[in-house]
Amino acid sequence: MTAIFLNFHTTSSDARTPTRPFWNPKYTSSNFRTTTNLCAPTSHTEPSDINSTVQKFWDDRPCNIRHSSKELGTKEYFEEVTKRKYFVENHILSFANFPSWKDKDVLEVGCGLGTAAQSFMEAGAKYTGIDVSPKSIELAQRRAKIFNLTGDIFVADIQSFIPDGKHFDLVYSFGVLHHIQNLEAALKNIYAVLKPGGQFKLMMYATKSWKKACVDSGLDQFEAQSGVPIANTYTNDEIRALLGDFTNIQIEQDHIFQWNVDEYRRYSYKKEPWFESMPGNLIRTLEKEFGWHLLITCDKPSQ
Ligand SMILES: C[S@@+](CC[C@H](N)C(=O)[O-])C[C@H]1O[C@@H](n2cnc3c(N)ncnc32)[C@H](O)[C@@H]1O
Repeated sequence: MTAIFLNFHTTSSDARTPTRPFWNPKYTSSNFRTTTNLCAPTSHTEPSDINSTVQKFWDDRPCNIRHSSKELGTKEYFEEVTKRKYFVENHILSFANFPSWKDKDVLEVGCGLGTAAQSFMEAGAKYTGIDVSPKSIELAQRRAKIFNLTGDIFVADIQSFIPDGKHFDLVYSFGVLHHIQNLEAALKNIYAVLKPGGQFKLMMYATKSWKKACVDSGLDQFEAQSGVPIANTYTNDEIRALLGDFTNIQIEQDHIFQWNVDEYRRYSYKKEPWFESMPGNLIRTLEKEFGWHLLITCDKPSQ
């Protein structure tokens, strides 16, 4: 695993961002602390501090909150968020395969403001969603109410989530577990809440990827918002080792973000010229080999 811990002390202009990450000289590799030690964010940061820092980071600006320019928390706002999310990350639809979870017990870990939550509930899943960010949870709950959907959505940390006896057919976690301090505890809890024969689907960042190469050379940053406290990347072998208790581990790779960031922030979609001129089959080949997302599916054994 490659563990990257960014400086926690971002400037206020960093926090406000709207600077362009791509080719922005501000994002040099000296912005990043790189270590191979899984749980060593900074020399003076205790685990509880790092958990609070992670929570604060996602609560200050919930993931995808700027996916719409409509009034926050309205029906139109959530509709636009969904549209943009599945346009830019279209591979989610085939990976999650929402319709296949009808009538099944689904737990989503790190549900954010509830885009997948809505899709699962609309597909008829018996849905539970958790997230450490209260603001994200508030938005996800409001979203469920607006669309007249039923689910159990609440604040919880998967590192310490104590199941109340409920077990799930699916645990789904997209882009979450590479941001946490104690992955081992999280995986143990996920295993515990799965029914025998249940499935675990997760997305983790790929070490061998176009994006990681750009981040390492200072041409890009991990997230839309700068200063993410923890962002780890993984190789396929590392994923297989981490998921040692699971069976039928399948890993696919996908997703290279091709859009010009300035245009994207204005809700307009214009590919970077080098992607614009690339044949579709070449882009797909690159995504399968060097995509940013490891799409992982595995099972808890039936016995
Ligand atoms: C990159 S966002 C992804 C959100 C959502 N899964 C999506 O695809 O849009 C990461 C999310 O994980 C949540 N998160 C981080 N650490 C967590 C933890 N230990 N337990 C539960 N959620 C966590 C964050 O609050 C944030 O909403």
